Amino acid sequence: MTLQKDPTILVIFGGMGDLTWRKLAPALYNLLLDQQLPEHFAVIGLDMKNESPDEFRLRLRDGANGFCECGRVDEKTWNGFAVNLSYLSGDFANPATYTALNSQLKDYEKNWASPANHVFYLATPPGIMETIVQGMGAAGLAQDKRRARIVVEKPFGHDLASAVALNGVLTTVFDEAQIYRIDHYLGKETVQNILAFRFANALFEPIWDRRYIDHVQITVAEQVGVEHRGAYYEHAGALRDMIQNHLMQILCLIAMEPMVSFDANEIRNKKVDVLRAIRPISKEQVQEVAVRGQYGPGSMEGQKVPAYRSEPGVAHDSPAETFAAIKLFVDNWRWQDVPFYLRTGKRLQTRASKVTIQFRPVPHQSFPTMAALAWQPNYLIIDIQPQEGILLRFQAKQPGASLHLTPVDMHFSYQEAFKSKSPEAYETLLTDVMSGDATLFMRADQVETSWSVLTPILNAWADLKPVDFPNYQSGTWGPEAADVLIAQDGRSWLRPILREDQEGNQAQSSIESTSTQS
Ligand code: BG6
Repeated sequence: MTLQKDPTILVIFGGMGDLTWRKLAPALYNLLLDQQLPEHFAVIGLDMKNESPDEFRLRLRDGANGFCECGRVDEKTWNGFAVNLSYLSGDFANPATYTALNSQLKDYEKNWASPANHVFYLATPPGIMETIVQGMGAAGLAQDKRRARIVVEKPFGHDLASAVALNGVLTTVFDEAQIYRIDHYLGKETVQNILAFRFANALFEPIWDRRYIDHVQITVAEQVGVEHRGAYYEHAGALRDMIQNHLMQILCLIAMEPMVSFDANEIRNKKVDVLRAIRPISKEQVQEVAVRGQYGPGSMEGQKVPAYRSEPGVAHDSPAETFAAIKLFVDNWRWQDVPFYLRTGKRLQTRASKVTIQFRPVPHQSFPTMAALAWQPNYLIIDIQPQEGILLRFQAKQPGASLHLTPVDMHFSYQEAFKSKSPEAYETLLTDVMSGDATLFMRADQVETSWSVLTPILNAWADLKPVDFPNYQSGTWGPEAADVLIAQDGRSWLRPILREDQEGNQAQSSIESTSTQS
């Protein structure tokens, strides 16, 4: 697409912030190395901090050095890039900030003798977003419907009402087509591949429904704790921070109907259909379908780690959940009565994000009981990270004179198949914004429908403070109640286990049925 190479100015609100440093700087540097940036490209960092342009450049360079997979930046390449990095300090509530920004934008365009795309990236805390959007509106920065785009980071509100309010402010200033709501999970190769796997192959789609699938598990397990984000997390918790966005988006990709074309709105329509079909949860049902947990102290890979309540910025009696597990149903022809179990948590035993599809048992066991003692249902596992691949588990006859069935795995690994590193999610997403492709971004109705599914759980949890927190030890698989949630349906969570490949790398994931406790 030619638009991708249009002159572009990326304006980062929150230029000195954590996200810019940790995610945007390395992504930009990688795009530069991959020659994915337009010839005329500039970054304007905006922040309340009274720093100099040199300090901004150093901050970006430090981020690229620290977080880019490519290692330390090359001096010459960086210096060539740094000339087009400028900084503006100003109060986001002051109209003068936007006037100054406007004149910087014009200066670049004058120098390039060409109009440019203006990508406004809100890498700021949520509380200030509405002020910035209104400031941009008043300064006329959103007027060019084709060239002005706004990128909004999560959280999109903290409940349905605040999300509706935020979308209201955004859409009074920008058209929906100019708004790019980031969910970085959608930028991950393995997540994007779900659509390719489902709809570019004839093999699985005929069995991708309630007739063949017993249930679906979506797990995003993290080993990290809340780190330095206590202040934010205290008001978020796992349900808002992870399930409302990342896990619900994965659910949409697994459950959606085939798209007619690879068009942004077509795909987003199909996803919204899934969210709309989720069976509403009444407040009375919350106990049965949702579990929350909070980590206590424990040990992660031999290191002692503190409880959530001892983390900086966290209240000593905090009710914030660092683990959440929920059961959902998608009430439509394809999925009626197939449970979707979603769980996520911090300080869990292993870092592993995966989707597990468990198929129904064979309708009739033809093999002698003694031959089928190790029998398991078929599983399809989509490994999102850190392993990247797809695993299919099926039964085979164990070699030998007697008949014994045993589960075996067929495995596809990105690394082995493609021999190259997948781009980071932010590289993909920045490229898409620059080229005006909104497919991987969330539309207002997706965000709002997702909030409305979860609102009863949020309300019930807010009304009833947890009395058993902390209820899981760091380094385990979460609270026991999460086992019960799935065990009451006669099922169990599948625990990821790492296996080594022939070179001794932890390259393949496998699974075993387990309880959450280690
Ligand atoms: C973010 C959450 O959206 O995703 C964090 O706010 C979480 O709490 C992070 O740690 C996980 O992302 P990833 O890409 O490391 O799985």
